[in-house]
Amino acid sequence: MRNQSSRNAPLEISPEEFRVLGHKLTDEIARFLEGISSQKVNPANTPKEVRQLMGTSLFPRDGESAAKLMDETSQLLLNHSTLNGHPSFFGYITSSAAPIGALADLLAAAVNPNVGSFQLAPVATEIERQTIAWISEMIGYRKECGGILLSGGNMANFVCFLAARKAMSTWNISKVGLGGSDARRLRVYTSTQTHFWIQKAVDLFGLGTEAIRWIPVDANLRMDVARLEKEIISDKANGDLPLMVVGTAGSVGTGAIDPLEKIAEICSRHNVWFHADGAYGGVAAVMPDAPGDLRRLSLADSVAVDPHKWLYAPLEAGCALIRDQKLLADAFGFHPTYFTFDAAQGEAPTNYYELGPQNSRGFRALKVWLGMRQAGRSGYERMIADDCALARELFDCVKEHKELEARTQGLSITTFRYIPHGADTSDPNVASYLNELNEALLSRIQVSGEAYVSNVVIEGTFLLRACIVNFRTESKHVRALPELAVGLGRELHAEMSKGLKPAETCRP
Ligand SMILES: Cc1ncc(COP(=O)(O)O)c(C=O)c1O
Repeated sequence: MRNQSSRNAPLEISPEEFRVLGHKLTDEIARFLEGISSQKVNPANTPKEVRQLMGTSLFPRDGESAAKLMDETSQLLLNHSTLNGHPSFFGYITSSAAPIGALADLLAAAVNPNVGSFQLAPVATEIERQTIAWISEMIGYRKECGGILLSGGNMANFVCFLAARKAMSTWNISKVGLGGSDARRLRVYTSTQTHFWIQKAVDLFGLGTEAIRWIPVDANLRMDVARLEKEIISDKANGDLPLMVVGTAGSVGTGAIDPLEKIAEICSRHNVWFHADGAYGGVAAVMPDAPGDLRRLSLADSVAVDPHKWLYAPLEAGCALIRDQKLLADAFGFHPTYFTFDAAQGEAPTNYYELGPQNSRGFRALKVWLGMRQAGRSGYERMIADDCALARELFDCVKEHKELEARTQGLSITTFRYIPHGADTSDPNVASYLNELNEALLSRIQVSGEAYVSNVVIEGTFLLRACIVNFRTESKHVRALPELAVGLGRELHAEMSKGLKPAETCRP
């Protein structure tokens, strides 16, 4: 047997070595951030190329020195990643991460509190509580709400969904599930623009995708509330139980905001839970001139917000807010006999394991809390308003180009497409060619490394989509995008039109 008086454990790093490695790493990260705007946004490596860069395939029998590993791994990541911190990264809703978040994660991992219970994480628990209260205040939600941080928007929406399912079912759903003798069919109402978390939720939590009533949208891609009310009335008449309406506060595709005030009225009239998905747009309520409906989030029974989107926290951080903390405890409050966390004297502590699906939990609040303290409310007002202004500038710039069609502009999202000169967009063959052309253009823009956009399909039309949740973006970056799209669009059109039958082409 080995002598255990001095273990020399293979994972230990001496304080001296940690200091050296840490200094070196922070120097490298600082250099990376300094030069980020002159890098390619996207390395465009194939999976095989990435595996070759990693160089290892088998789990090593023996370990290696931490210094060597940190050298290799920092080079691998800093030189071969898709850079969402680049000022020309406009893809999906993935923000530039605040550098203070990287320092926060290092500190959080070093202390490593388990934020499942107050006893195991006293400071971290109170920091999480305060972060949630600040997010709630920032978006104008209720003062006395409950909440919990999760890994992202999907999980935040799931937690609100589960709290609603528990609160709204008229039978003991925790005990008998969805199939009890007095159970009714639960229905969920949501617009066709809703993020696909809702499909995962109804599937994962037993309702099935047929429980969703897809409500059509108007010309501005906002939920048709007259249709919503009709569906609720009809389901009630059939003996079903309308569980929840999901109103989106900033849709993933175009940044559209549903008529939240009207949805709230309908929910209150028919006793249906009103959930607002503010994963993207929720925090834009902080802008003094935020759209009216965004200022009505306080009417919702629950709200999902995503600090790793527009609070610019590094991944991962989502936040579920709920009108009454007790509703979270009802949905998640199971107590094993080996937990004795309530023994503290005086005030009952917050134990987050009772308020959400996770048991052991990391300290994701720190990066959010420090970012909120560093920027303050006024800092976020400015950064979010600037992102929206840049998206509007992009829209105007796209409109100036004869070969681009500007389609939508909402919050910080602008959509557009490339249309070659002379194309007759009313011809179905041309319409389908334009979809193919713009899909190919998306990929060419991404591979170029000059900028990164994603896409949305609206009523069968494939559109390029730029979402600016990026405090490093400036006018010059958005102004370069239309030029890039036209240049690459022309190149592609020349290539693709050669391969098409004359009737299907739309040559200039
Ligand atoms: C409106 C909306 N809801 C939910 C999500 C899911 O968030 P996450 O990717 O953080 O899980 C997104 C992501 O873009 C979103 O835009």
